[in-house]
Amino acid sequence: MQIGIIGAGSLGTGLTKHLVKNGHAVMLSFNRDAAKLKSTASSLGAKAGTPAEAAAFADVVVLATPWNVAGEALKAIGTVPVRKILWDCTNALKPDMSGLIIGTTTSAGEEVAKLAPWAKVVKAIPTFAEVLHSSSLQIGGARAVVFVCGDDADARRVVASLVTDVGGAPVDAGPLELARYTEPAAMLLVKLAYGQGFGARIGLGFLRETS
Ligand SMILES: NC(=O)c1ccc[n+]([C@@H]2O[C@H](COP(=O)([O-])OP(=O)(O)OC[C@H]3O[C@@H](n4cnc5c(N)ncnc54)[C@H](OP(=O)(O)O)[C@@H]3O)[C@@H](O)[C@H]2O)c1
Repeated sequence: MQIGIIGAGSLGTGLTKHLVKNGHAVMLSFNRDAAKLKSTASSLGAKAGTPAEAAAFADVVVLATPWNVAGEALKAIGTVPVRKILWDCTNALKPDMSGLIIGTTTSAGEEVAKLAPWAKVVKAIPTFAEVLHSSSLQIGGARAVVFVCGDDADARRVVASLVTDVGGAPVDAGPLELARYTEPAAMLLVKLAYGQGFGARIGLGFLRETS
């Protein structure tokens, strides 16, 4: 598939690495230094462009910016004439990472959907970038569970398959509204990783009786 990533930081580059390895064509966009963006993208086997170019290029657009600039990044995409999948990876973190700006009565995913009416928004927060940039995507011998929420079942399936390509174990969690609860779970991981000394090689598991 053709993937346009908005946000060329730790997460955007970590996703690019694995998506390219899995045969996807990636265009990276959105940073503050065009020359750095070009060289970063090229070192990862990806193209570089503006957010509007990345969205035009993409079958799936990936939002991987800090929350405080997500609105700006979506504005820079402008109008997208055809409906496209938007995989939202953001955590709506307070600037000091002490908590979430948004939670339980709405979600970052739902707010992104309001800002991007052209998009079929799917919320799925990948494992930590430290894992994506490391030599193993496994954590304690297993893949971390990534909950996938969105109102379009086909779009959820597409993002679930991309989640697998970047080392996660996707769980179809149903409608976008469920992001109200999956986003705080990701916040818990941030707190455990950076506040409680567990480090970034942690992830979620999901127990389920299947027989
Ligand atoms: N990192 C993780 O492990 C992880 C895991 C799951 C979800 N997330 C979520 O993913 C999102 C991205 O996180 P990250 O860790 O990748 O952040 P990051 O490393 O700080 O990268 C942010 C990217 O956005 C760009 N950017 C920031 N402000 C900008 C502005 N005003 N104009 C243009 N570009 C700007 C940065 O450009 P510069 O390079 O020029 O600074 C950089 O390319 C966040 O919402 C985070 O909560 C992160």
